[in-house]
Amino acid sequence: MIRRTDAPVPPAAGAGADASAVRALEWSVAPRPGLRLLDQTALPDREEYRLVDTVDALVDAVVRLVVRGAPALGAAGAYGVAVALLEGEREGWDAARLAAAIERLRTARPTAVNLARGVQAAAAHAGEGVAAVLAAADRLVAEDVRANRVLSALGADWILARTSRRPLRVLTHCNTGAVATTAWGTALGIVRELHARGVLAEVRVNETRPLLQGTRLTAWELGREGIPHVVQVDGATASSIARGLVDVAVVGADRVTANGDTVNKIGTLGVALACRDGGVPFVVAAPWTTIDLATPDGASVHVEQRPGEEVLALGGRRTAPAGARADNPAFDVTPARLVDAVVTERGLVEPATDPAGTAARLHGFAP
Ligand code: MRU
Repeated sequence: MIRRTDAPVPPAAGAGADASAVRALEWSVAPRPGLRLLDQTALPDREEYRLVDTVDALVDAVVRLVVRGAPALGAAGAYGVAVALLEGEREGWDAARLAAAIERLRTARPTAVNLARGVQAAAAHAGEGVAAVLAAADRLVAEDVRANRVLSALGADWILARTSRRPLRVLTHCNTGAVATTAWGTALGIVRELHARGVLAEVRVNETRPLLQGTRLTAWELGREGIPHVVQVDGATASSIARGLVDVAVVGADRVTANGDTVNKIGTLGVALACRDGGVPFVVAAPWTTIDLATPDGASVHVEQRPGEEVLALGGRRTAPAGARADNPAFDVTPARLVDAVVTERGLVEPATDPAGTAARLHGFAP
């Protein structure tokens, strides 16, 4: 269950600290009720927390990636319904105003299915009051914590059965660790599991342009635990794989559709293509809350387009010439044929080798 906190901001910890214990978010009761978010835009320089107690502030935090990563967005959405209820009580909102606020939260980012699901799961209890909504959000968090541990063990087993080199060299893209989830991580959870089993040589961390989730967040999480890693530019992926420096690639997902297509951070498709060419297994790790059986394929998913300034500037300084335009999709679609395994806490499918059976097997995992 998520910790209720009125604790002061924890001090930053150095190498050796357990980064898997870092929390992206938690419900806070003091100094006033609200959602306490670790500001991921300030990492790795500063470990700062923001107390969010209005829907406007939470939508802004979601859009600016103060809180990010599909499972963390799901939890933020669920607690966000409590934020909306409390704000509505304070401000005297009618039912229509409350519903509009919850809808704004549900759609604040369109691609990660977890956000809409988290909001819906909690909103189903809105009529029972804030305590019931918080209990629903707590349940979602508890399930995500459990799911990450289970899928990490399953994914590590699969990888060890399919690779021969020891210790392993793993490539990952974006950040899928403790800060992207509610604890531990998905793809980075598998990395943690491999490290704990003593079979991990090093992690090759893609920087993940344009917002550098790999450089800023994944390297931060790995560094705190003393897990060996190197950061490389996204453009080095193909070369690293072609030069035989990678034994397996493990990434997360914002949505996996019924056929096994995987929507994830822009650049993931390039990783998968290079893996296929190099004969390197490409693994997607995602909790069941990220599997979207209602959507047939990746082409049907709305991919978020983000502001061009994220591409045209670096660290707040404009790098592109005046007049340059940018195309900035936040995610890409990796077709199922390139995905060797999708690992969930309910089981694992192998879309690349079982294209016909993938949807049926995934449906079979559903309750
Ligand atoms: O734009 P972001 O940083 O929210 O994108 C995050 C990703 O693409 C992650 O790989 C995905 O959400 C899985 S996080 C466990």
